[in-house]
Amino acid sequence: MSLTMEQLVNYTKNYGFVFQGSEIYGGLANTWDYGPLGVELKNNLKNIWWRRFVQESPYNVGLDSAILMNPTTWVASGHVDSFTDPLIDCRSCKSRHRADHLVEAHDASIEADGLSMDELERIIKENEISCPTCGAFDYTPIRTFNLMFETSLGVVDEKAQSIYLRPETAQGIFVNFKNVQRTSRMKVPFGIAQIGKSFRNEITPKNFIFRTREFEQMEIEFFCKPGSEMEWFDYWLNASVDYLDDIGLDKDKIRFDEHKPHQLSHYSNKTTDIQYRYPFGFDELWGVASRTDYDLSRHQEYSEENLEYQDPVTNEKYIPYVIEPSLGVERLFLSVLDSAYTEETLESGETRINLRLKPAVAPYKVAVLPLIKKRHREKAQEVFGKVAKHVMTFYDEAGKIGRRYRRQDAIGTPICLTVDDESLEENTFTLRFRDSMEQIRVKEEDLVTTIEQHTAL
Ligand code: GAP
Repeated sequence: MSLTMEQLVNYTKNYGFVFQGSEIYGGLANTWDYGPLGVELKNNLKNIWWRRFVQESPYNVGLDSAILMNPTTWVASGHVDSFTDPLIDCRSCKSRHRADHLVEAHDASIEADGLSMDELERIIKENEISCPTCGAFDYTPIRTFNLMFETSLGVVDEKAQSIYLRPETAQGIFVNFKNVQRTSRMKVPFGIAQIGKSFRNEITPKNFIFRTREFEQMEIEFFCKPGSEMEWFDYWLNASVDYLDDIGLDKDKIRFDEHKPHQLSHYSNKTTDIQYRYPFGFDELWGVASRTDYDLSRHQEYSEENLEYQDPVTNEKYIPYVIEPSLGVERLFLSVLDSAYTEETLESGETRINLRLKPAVAPYKVAVLPLIKKRHREKAQEVFGKVAKHVMTFYDEAGKIGRRYRRQDAIGTPICLTVDDESLEENTFTLRFRDSMEQIRVKEEDLVTTIEQHTAL
């Protein structure tokens, strides 16, 4: 089914997935906190990604590099000079806009990404694109705005050094290329994967958690021999799509956007975005870019460290080319929830929300529910203790059993485990499955294996 953005935001807030940041102080614009269900869902998405792309990959190893880096990193990477967005101010209401977004909102057929400031200015003037906030047509000239967050290192003002919060995790990987290659004895082709926070001072953050100033990325920098990069590009694009399929993204809401030459970043010879149809329309979920040898060459130049790789068989020396699949955790979170949310009308006429998450992705795998609080509580708590050692388990004894089932359906819990009189007498329990609503009876000693079988990826 198709949800509106408002419905999705309300759902995530009401059930404890996402809260507004610093809410009791009136919030801080565009910051979000992840509640008990949100943190579990996020962790599951990250863990499955890590397992797929690090643990099970014959090619990749992991890394956790620092958010604060030597500022020369960002000169070498090109971020100081060109990590900018075109900013335009409305003189009438003082609101700020991204000039490229104004153009695209006016005419969706124009690909404003990659257009020069002169071209953007010309289109805005010729079409008299008015301010989306107040309707006036009275803008300042377009100027560039660097998206990196600047802060100071050190406590004494005069000595403090200006540094940046990283705007992508990728550069932490590039500067560690030699360390990882040498210590892990990796041979090209190989990749380094990392999950971590990135920060961008976005001019117009919007659409809930889609574009935020603080977000998390899951990135792989895959190093290969020059000339083999297109083959590896296809390999990683396919692997990315397989992962999305496995975690339950709706295939019909996915499309590919291969960048045209004028849209390519200066370092890229091919880029394809995997887009998802969010409630507000199609937009980028996962970028797969062929980054040539740009990053390693620039870091070699600025650091004066030799970053060449020597082929152990042919002794040939070269700077590897790089394929980079880069995915935002929050965008994945949004698309997974959007794909899973359903509403069904039951025979009783009641509507049930069923969050059809893949069991491996679901925040809780099992909910333990004593049928009658006073009579079954003790046994239920004992079972909770046993099952919770293996999988995330929720315990709920409040209210009618039907309502407790409905709540678990709505948050995607694949199995409800009910404790009743038979459980006390014969040590057997009812397992009720979320999607089919079928029930089976299972002996206590088989509980964990049965639950694990039904909740593995
Ligand atoms: N290292 C390459 C890189 O950072 P990007 O296209 O700028 O490329 C990669 O970002 C991914 O990070 C995007 O596809 C998106 O999922 C996520 N992302 C980027 N900016 C974001 C923002 N402001 N808020 C949330 N996610 C963002």
